[in-house]
Parts: sequence; structure tokens; C-alpha cells
Amino acid sequence: MSQDPFRLFNEWYVEELKRSSASIPSACCISSNGLDGYPNARFVSLKEVKNDTFIITGPLRSRKGLEVTQSSKVALTFWWETTQKQIRIQGNATKISDTEATQYFNERAKDSNIISMISEQGTAIENIEVLKKKFTEIEIAYKNKDVMKPKNWGGFAIAPIRIECMEFEKTRFHKRTLFQLEGKNWTTTVLQP
Ligand SMILES: Cc1cc2nc3c(=O)[nH]c(=O)nc-3n(C[C@H](O)[C@H](O)[C@H](O)COP(=O)(O)O)c2cc1C
Repeated sequence: MSQDPFRLFNEWYVEELKRSSASIPSACCISSNGLDGYPNARFVSLKEVKNDTFIITGPLRSRKGLEVTQSSKVALTFWWETTQKQIRIQGNATKISDTEATQYFNERAKDSNIISMISEQGTAIENIEVLKKKFTEIEIAYKNKDVMKPKNWGGFAIAPIRIECMEFEKTRFHKRTLFQLEGKNWTTTVLQP
């Protein structure tokens, strides 16, 4: 097994992407420290692993955006059904630059970008039809032009301090390897199942 957790993550992820029939194989659960002290978790799509950080994106004023902005300590969890592997990451999130966020935004599907433009993610709405009507109007207005990234849409780069890679075994003798950052080096520990 690789002693470099990023290399191992990449090997496993590539294998899962190759074999998976999941509609969103990049899905992972990001857990944050809730503003009221309760842990909060939801799925997001991993954009990529860049410079040894895990990149996620979304509205910055949503609950997740506010929570991660207030407390940078987060966890990211993956379960890869096809290859029967779990990855648990704990680390520190920092906001990516506006330029980087724009690049990710421009790679998204147009309908997703229109939603990001018109929806205040997570705030209450009395009638969803109002938003649907707005969507259609914007769709028509932007038929021949790109949707610009809203000011409060961005992302976070999660720099891990701990990565646990687990191979799920039917026998329940799961193979768990914990990588921990000590200074600039990663230590490796095999954990009991
Ligand atoms: C598979 C999947 C992928 C998702 N990807 C994202 C994403 O990349 N960014 C995002 O903001 N929300 C994504 N969502 C929606 C979030 O789960 C969540 O509903 C939203 O971000 C609001 O969460 P918040 O109120 O805690 O900010 C995704 C949901 C699912 C089920």
C-alpha cells in the first residue's frame, strides 16, 4: 500500500470512477461545526484534489458556507460502493480565490449556474413556483450568453491533517490505515477493524 495518502486516494478514486455506475461518483459528505454547536453534514461533489487539498464549491452564504467560514475544522467522508472503500478526512478549510471559483463555476452545467444565480440556498421560500418562473425567464434571457458567477459563490480547499483509508471486508476484518500529518511528514498506523 502507498505511504502517500494523496497517491492512495487518487489510485482508489480513479478505480472507483472507472467502475462506478453512480450518477454522482464524486459525492462526499462534508461535516462542519454547526453555528449552534451541533455537527452538521451534507453531501457535496468533490471538484478535484489540487496541491494536496480537496476542493469543494457552493454558495458561501449558505449554512455550510457560514459554518465553514466561522470554523475551518471540517471532515470529508467518502463511501465508494463499487470498490467497497471508505475514506475519512479531517482538515482545515480555506476559501479559494475568486478567480479559482470562477473557473469551477464556468465548468458547471448552465442550469446549475442559473439556480446558483437565482436561489438564496437554504433560505425559506413561500412558493417554489416563483423561483421556477424566474428560472425560465433567466434561461430565455441568457440563451446566448454565459451566466456570471454570483459574488457569494465560491469554494473551499481542505488541507487534511488526518486521512483514514478503509477497505471494507465481508469478513468484517476491514483494512484500516490511518495517515496523520506530523510536521511535514505523514505517519502511517494500521488500525483494528
Ligand atoms: C450528491 C450530491 C451532491 C451535491 N453537491 C453539492 C455541491 O457540490 N455544492 C453544494 O453547495 N451543494 C451540493 N449538494 C447539496 C447539498 O447537499 C446541500 O443541500 C446544500 O449545499 C445546502 O447545504 P447547507 O444548507 O448546509 O449549506 C449536493 C447534494 C447531493 C445529494
